[in-house]
Amino acid sequence: MLKFDVVIVGSGLAGMTLALHLAERCKVAVVTKRDLLEGSSSYAQGGIAAVLDTDDTVEEHIRDTLVAGAGLCNATTTRFIVAHSKEAIDWLIDLGVPFTRDATHQTGYHLTREGGHSHRRIIHAADATGAAVTTTLGQKLKAHPNITVLEEHIAIDLITSKRLGLEGRRAYGIYALDKQADRVVTIAAPHTIIAAGGAGKVYLYTTNPDTATGDGIAMGWRAGCRVANMEFIQFHPTCLYHPHSKSFLISEAVRGEGGILRLPDGTRFMPSHDARAELAPRDVVARAIDFEMKKHGLDCVYLDISYKPAHFIREHFPNIYAHCLELGIDITQEPIPVVPAAHYTCGGLVTDLAGRTDVDGLYAVGEAACTGLHGANRLASNSLLECLVIGKAAAADILATPPGTQPAIPDWDDSQVTDPDEEVVISHNWDELRRAMWDYVGIVRTNKRLERALHRIELLREEISEYYRHFHVSNDLIELRNLVVTAELIVRSAMERKESRGLHYSRDYPETLAEAHDTVLTPQR
Ligand code: FAD
Ligand code: SIN
Repeated sequence: MLKFDVVIVGSGLAGMTLALHLAERCKVAVVTKRDLLEGSSSYAQGGIAAVLDTDDTVEEHIRDTLVAGAGLCNATTTRFIVAHSKEAIDWLIDLGVPFTRDATHQTGYHLTREGGHSHRRIIHAADATGAAVTTTLGQKLKAHPNITVLEEHIAIDLITSKRLGLEGRRAYGIYALDKQADRVVTIAAPHTIIAAGGAGKVYLYTTNPDTATGDGIAMGWRAGCRVANMEFIQFHPTCLYHPHSKSFLISEAVRGEGGILRLPDGTRFMPSHDARAELAPRDVVARAIDFEMKKHGLDCVYLDISYKPAHFIREHFPNIYAHCLELGIDITQEPIPVVPAAHYTCGGLVTDLAGRTDVDGLYAVGEAACTGLHGANRLASNSLLECLVIGKAAAADILATPPGTQPAIPDWDDSQVTDPDEEVVISHNWDELRRAMWDYVGIVRTNKRLERALHRIELLREEISEYYRHFHVSNDLIELRNLVVTAELIVRSAMERKESRGLHYSRDYPETLAEAHDTVLTPQR
């Protein structure tokens, strides 16, 4: 058994932020299922929204967030996070993150623009902001004597009082599969943090990396945490459409810097959908693309920035330019084929402003959590900001909370299971689940489609639980077990909402109700 003061599941920006804020006073384990830098944070392109320019204000950033969130953002949360945005960016700058500079701007940095923002307020490192941030923080993490990074360890479940047959509702750490040694280890700690990211992989087409399988949300749900607003899955309007490129995002900053969406014949279509055109919030743009693709029977639409000077494009979007060029698309000369794809999980484990969940000793931070910031549709580049601000607040809360006493924790019991007979069950169910979610729980929903999805998910859940009960755990089995739980939470939440709002659009309930309510699901405890 490994023992720490704090165990953090996940090494994205949420997990890294917490670890660095805690490490001066705590022994911290960062458990991560692939290598340290693998996760959505490292793929973030556009940047981090923050009030840095003296012409911009906290009030305006709040207003933009609330407008994008379609009446469902929690106003207190939004104010707290936006008000701390400058401090969060200053911390990153102090740590050495190489944001793109602009000597002509009063901040000294180049600020870009994205959909839904009334100001240029996105600080970025060219078009690979996430990689710049996680590489810088990752180096500090690895060098810190109080931080132990356990790569290739996938958390299976939380160790809770319920699991141990004790009174109360408390977490004491995790069981994790050490994938290289192929054995389950017990990692005990009085404070456990879920920073395991979102669940984009529940859909067939996604901008997310393979790590985004909803593990944290499913683990928290099984441990007794409520989840909220899971129906609000954000589809990013512009994922590259190319047979040889999986999940590559074309940043919203391309539209922010003037990119225009066109049909194959060159017709611009966004102005006929929304006065804000290409810079409308994401739900609006993704739905417009979906509408045009269905109306004209298209496989994709086109994003065109080629009318801008080539040096401007190469300087602002070096990563996107190089990636597209490798595939034979010169974005300085021709438009980019794009489609919407699942991008961000707005809902998650219900937390307060310090990341506290319903389970004592258990925190959730980042995309796995639902603080109320994103409402029914996340404003672009607000998620990295949330990781930074709530990550710091959670660390402060942990440092101020005396650790409870740890009970005796038994080792993982695998005496009743054997080696799997047919692994094809996992890959088949994995594909079936993701396709069902794409076909029935996508950008436009109906009661009938949701019922179809739920029916299939229930059958899959049964089959996967049966498999889990009988066979040794593997990475794929752990992820599939979590994906199916997450899928069910999305569908059940979508069924609860009898209106269309933000990212949830139902043909059966096209109106938006006068009053906005969160969809909160409570697990059996
Ligand atoms: P992640 O960064 O996804 O990290 C999750 C971590 O948990 C990973 O290390 C993963 O391996 C680990 N993990 C998961 N399950 C387990 C398990 N069972 N056991 C152990 N480890 C586990 N947001 C912005 O604000 N600005 C942007 O410009 C931006 N661009 C984006 C571009 C792309 C392509 C994508 C996919 C997202 C983008 N987002 C952006 C969203 C943003 O990147 C994410 O919301 C944010 O990075 C989430 O951070 P996180 O720490 O919560 O999760
Ligand atoms: C992008 O660069 O378009 C992604 C920004 C985000 O998801 O916040």
